[in-house]
Amino acid sequence: MFQAPKGTRDILPPESHRWQALVAVFADVIGRAGYGLVQSPMFEDIGVFQRLGEGTEVVRKEMYDFHDKGDRHLALRPEGTASVVRAFNQHRPTVPWKVWYLTPCFRYEEPQAGRFRQHHQVGAEAIGSADPDLDVEVIALQHDFYRVLGLSRLSLRLNSMGSPGDRQAYAGLLAEWLARRSGDLDEADRANAAGHPLRVLDSKRERTVAVVADAPRITDCLSDEAATRLDRVRSGLDALGIGYEIDPGLVRGLDYYTHSTWEFAAGDLTSAQNAVGGGGRYDGLAESLGGRPAPGVGFGAGIERILLAADAEDALSQPSAAVDVFVVDVTGGDSGRDLTFELRRNGISSDRAFDSRSMKAQMKVADRSGARLALLVGPDELASGTATLRDLRSGGGQIALARTDVVAEVAARLAGG
Ligand code: HAM
Repeated sequence: MFQAPKGTRDILPPESHRWQALVAVFADVIGRAGYGLVQSPMFEDIGVFQRLGEGTEVVRKEMYDFHDKGDRHLALRPEGTASVVRAFNQHRPTVPWKVWYLTPCFRYEEPQAGRFRQHHQVGAEAIGSADPDLDVEVIALQHDFYRVLGLSRLSLRLNSMGSPGDRQAYAGLLAEWLARRSGDLDEADRANAAGHPLRVLDSKRERTVAVVADAPRITDCLSDEAATRLDRVRSGLDALGIGYEIDPGLVRGLDYYTHSTWEFAAGDLTSAQNAVGGGGRYDGLAESLGGRPAPGVGFGAGIERILLAADAEDALSQPSAAVDVFVVDVTGGDSGRDLTFELRRNGISSDRAFDSRSMKAQMKVADRSGARLALLVGPDELASGTATLRDLRSGGGQIALARTDVVAEVAARLAGG
């Protein structure tokens, strides 16, 4: 028997009802801010994702890439932003282009709690404006999304990577600093110290973490323009009552960031799995993918991580999946088929039993379904053109209804609470 591949899992009912609820909250919060849904291919030319950074783990070690039958080198998407920017370049929509997505992401990581080879993100991107108020908008929308879900024990860390020039100057300074301490770094990080020094700051390896605690900070290298932008973002968050902490060590795992970067972490989870979402500005990405220069900003939030955080906080309870009405028909199934569809077509959720089982067996399924009402059709009802309506919750009171009155009576009962 086959099992789901390592690092992946099936999301089944009733857990999937929680997913639906989470996505509905996201679509609502983000849709009310004028963002539209984008659906783009799950795979792209590998070049699209190589722009995430040659030195990043995502590109170097974790890509699911393959050659198709036409010998094109493709890769499954490890994240959402690069595809959205590729689509922006291709279709040249009016700016600012504000979009959201729900997508699986594929990374060949070592699976552990909250870390999968296929995880899922909801995310948003706003492309075509460099206004720092747009950074505030997307951070605030991400914040509101978590708040509406009921998460209250999250913290927000904010940093600036500066302009591309600031970032480059800082990388040079850091590379020099690291060169002098190369021997103290964890061996696995030494190779990055010269070519990709920012990646060393993102290392989770103990020896390296201890060394880089004293490293020079990007905040010391920010140009006036970058510092002013950061101030504008900070004052926007302050005005909206969103708490945050400045963390100059926050460089994030992808290389396209300039200016604002941020991450939301769940206080109840361990550091390997507590990032419930992160984002930032990527003003050079459109150009690096062959398009015209277009600044952009956005975030991605991991659904599996959010659900872990929700479990720890007892938030986002499982929504009820029960239908309102269960139809029991022991006369061959015609009435069961016709009644369920009559109810459904009138907006009333309903289900029925199959396989012509006995009244007792069907009533058991009706009880287990969690439905409030049962409609019973036996030989007497069939002969008289009626159905028996039974209340499954209040101890089984029942009345006979003419078939023509069923929908109206059921609707009235359900509306009556
Ligand atoms: P990221 O930080 O790589 O950013 O991923 C975003 C979120 O996806 C993480 O905060 C985490 O919640 C979740 N996540 C990442 N990897 C895994 C995994 N292996 N298993 C479970 N959850 C995971 C991005 O992907 C950027 N595209 C975000 C962005 C959008 N920046 C600008 N726009």
